Amino acid sequence: MTHPIRIAPSILASNFSKLGQEVRDVVEAGADWIHLDVMDGHFVPNITFGPDVIKSLRPHTDATFDCHLMISPADPYLEAFAKAGCDILTVHAEAGPHLHRSLQIVKSLGKKAGVSLNPATPEGAIEYVLDSVDLILVMTVNPGFGGQKFIHATEEKIRRIKAMVGDRPIEIEVDGGITPETAALPVKAGANVLVAGSAVFKGDSVETYRAAIEAIRKSAEKARG
Ligand code: DX5
Ligand code: ZN
Repeated sequence: MTHPIRIAPSILASNFSKLGQEVRDVVEAGADWIHLDVMDGHFVPNITFGPDVIKSLRPHTDATFDCHLMISPADPYLEAFAKAGCDILTVHAEAGPHLHRSLQIVKSLGKKAGVSLNPATPEGAIEYVLDSVDLILVMTVNPGFGGQKFIHATEEKIRRIKAMVGDRPIEIEVDGGITPETAALPVKAGANVLVAGSAVFKGDSVETYRAAIEAIRKSAEKARG
């Protein structure tokens, strides 16, 4: 099954003093999804924002809210993120002992369920939940901060995940260190959703965002041949 290439800018790299404007600008610039990085200072060594901020952004666009939960535990907060208007809720396989339960909760809330793997986590961690997910988010840096370098060892993991997924309608997303220069690598390995933070939010204008999104998309489409 071939999914379209999607570019999902992470607002982690945007100007937090004008988040609503940043969301509108990046959608105008061609973003397919808005990637929302939620960090708790416990599962990852950084703190960002929670459901109330996401709720306040919801009226600014109809674009898909792709919510990456870097929090542990996740289960007690899933309902709040669903009510805030997230469309996809992605939990980390490493965030708790009951991954299957977390995914069932997301489904019961009527949302798309994603599962994410840190760079050191093998693909086998998700082998038995493939029938419960709509999306697999492969971390291509260690989560917590924007602006890090793409980890090349993840390419082989993406390839193995793509093979495991088979013809299930699961999207494969990559997150971290994605630039026009690196975007081709995960796409060649089988990914179709590209998260990009610092590579998109530079220059502070719709035009610079557009140029960055187009450059990433072009290199991804070219990699598909
Ligand atoms: C890292 C976050 C990423 C981050 C990517 O923990 O999950 O979404 O914003 O940032 P860049 O694109 O700058 O590597
Ligand atoms: Zn992310």
